[in-house]
Amino acid sequence: MKALVTYYTQTGNTEKLARAIYEAISIEKAFMPIDEIKDKGGYDVVFIGFPVHAHSVPAKAETFIRSLPSGQKVAFFSTHGSLRGGQLPKQAFEHALGLATKIKVLGQYGCRGKVDPKIIAALITKPENRAWAEEAQGAERHPDEHDLADARLFAQGIISSL
Ligand SMILES: Cc1cc2nc3c(=O)[nH]c(=O)nc-3n(C[C@H](O)[C@H](O)[C@H](O)COP(=O)(O)O)c2cc1C
Repeated sequence: MKALVTYYTQTGNTEKLARAIYEAISIEKAFMPIDEIKDKGGYDVVFIGFPVHAHSVPAKAETFIRSLPSGQKVAFFSTHGSLRGGQLPKQAFEHALGLATKIKVLGQYGCRGKVDPKIIAALITKPENRAWAEEAQGAERHPDEHDLADARLFAQGIISSL
């Protein structure tokens, strides 16, 4: 059995989760950024990671998800500035699940990730974005050791379900 861990990242948060997930996998495995993948075939499970962008899945991750072979088993992971368990990150997973009509989603894991301070500074001055920007400031120390430990457990659970 073989697993692929792939991810899209802009500032490195999602890559940290990807590395934790990769470390925790006990079967044959490969690790690659999403835009370097040439051959998608031959994996028993593909772990796909992305940051939440505009409450949704970034275009590069969306294109990759749509291009997977029919019946492919996948597990999603993501980082986001909003509170864990909140409505907005949930929307992003729902979007990813909506893309996954031909594939089989085994599970999903999300945690907070530090938001680029330039984005917070730009949004905090706008009344319509202030509440989100204030909430996102709280993500500053994430992903932390607990988030990474949970990601490892998530990965182990997915592998043992194969
Ligand atoms: C363009 C852009 C849009 C974002 N939109 C959201 C959002 O809608 N909700 C959210 O919780 N976080 C949002 N974020 C914050 C990122 O999801 C968060 O910082 C994530 O951990 C970044 O991951 P990365 O370091 O792997 O790129 C956004 C960040 C960027 C750059």
